[in-house]
Amino acid sequence: MDTSTVPTVPVTTPKSPHSQDAIRRAPINPNHWYVVAHSSELTDKPMAVVLWQQQIVLYRTRQTVCALEDRCPHRQVKLSRGQVQGDLIECVYHGWQFNDSGNCVDVPYLQANQKLPNCRLRCYPVREQDGFIWLFPGDAALADDTPLLGLPEWDQLNYIASYTVIDTQAHFSFLIENLMDMYHGRLHDDLQAWANPVLNTLEATPQRVDAHYRAETYYKIDKIYSVGQLFIPAMRKLRPTNLDVSYVYPHWQSVLGKDFKIYCLFCPVGETNTRAYLVHFVSLGAFHRLHKLPVRFRRFVKNRLFNAARGLLVGLVKQDVAMVEDEQRAFDQMPQRKGPEYNRAVIKVQQLIQHQAAQR
Ligand code: FES
Ligand SMILES: [Fe+2]
Repeated sequence: MDTSTVPTVPVTTPKSPHSQDAIRRAPINPNHWYVVAHSSELTDKPMAVVLWQQQIVLYRTRQTVCALEDRCPHRQVKLSRGQVQGDLIECVYHGWQFNDSGNCVDVPYLQANQKLPNCRLRCYPVREQDGFIWLFPGDAALADDTPLLGLPEWDQLNYIASYTVIDTQAHFSFLIENLMDMYHGRLHDDLQAWANPVLNTLEATPQRVDAHYRAETYYKIDKIYSVGQLFIPAMRKLRPTNLDVSYVYPHWQSVLGKDFKIYCLFCPVGETNTRAYLVHFVSLGAFHRLHKLPVRFRRFVKNRLFNAARGLLVGLVKQDVAMVEDEQRAFDQMPQRKGPEYNRAVIKVQQLIQHQAAQR
C-alpha cells in the first residue's frame, strides 16, 4: 500500500506523447460487475442497454433477470424490440424464441424436415441487487469469484436513498477524476455539501484508490428539521468533518461525516459516452427514538422520503457534466495539450485506470 501526503509541487503524468491517449481512450477492464440499470427501469418489457459498445438486452423471466446479446441471429435485428413469453424472449420480426442461455428453442414456421438453427447468443452473468441491475461483461467463468460493490444501505431502514442518472458525452476517466478531486466544491455554489478540503492521506492498490480529505461540512443531520439544510442555505453552518472518497474500480463511493454516503455506479457506454447512477444516502442514525418504532412505520418513513434529495443531485450532476464534457471536447481538439495536476489522488486514479485496462 502506498501512502502519500499532499504535494507542494505539481505532479505530471509521464511525458510520452501517448500518455493522455492511454488514459482518455483507455478501455474498461470487463472482468468486473458494472451497473446497467436501476431495477425500476426494467419492467416486463425487454430493455436495451449498451456497456462498452456491447449491445445487450435485459429482460425479466418469471424467476430472474436475464441478459443476452441484443441481436437476433436470424436477421440481426434487436431482440429488445421483441417481447417476453414466459421464460423465453421472442424476436419481433419472425417470432423466433430464445431461452436464457441464448439458444434458439422455437421457430414458428419450422417444417417437419427442418431442424432448429444451431445458434447461440452470448449470455451475460447478471444480478439484481440493492436496487440495481449488475452485469459482468468479461469472462463469465470469473463472475462468481469477483466481488460486486453492493450498496448495503439500500435496504437498511436507517438510510434514506435518492438517486439520479448521469449521462455524459465524456470518457469515464473524466467523470471519476471529477468525483475523486474534491478541490472543486466552488463549482457547486449553494448545492455544495463540503468546503475547504485538504487532501490528508492517499492509499492506492491495483484495485482501488482511497483519498482522505479533511474538510468542513454544511450539514449535520441530528434533528428532524435538519433535513431542511439540504434545501435552505440559511440553515447551514460549517463544521470540521472527514471527507473520504474511494475509487473501488470501476465504481466510486464517498463518506462525508457520519450522515452522508454517496455512490457513483458506472456504466461506461463507449469511449466518449458514460452513464452512471449517483446514489445518495442520508443516515437517520441520530434519531434513536425512530429506531424503537415498528418496522412497518420505519419502512413507511424510508419509502416516503425516497428521492427527497434528487433535486440536489440533479443540480450537482448538471454542473459536473458541463465540466467533464468541456474536458472531453478540449481533448478531442488538442489531445497533446495537458495542464499541470496538483492533486495526487487524480494521478493515482489515472494509474489505476491504466493498470485495469492492461488486465483485460
Ligand atoms: S430477425 Fe429475428 S426472427 Fe427473424
Ligand atoms: Fe462535483
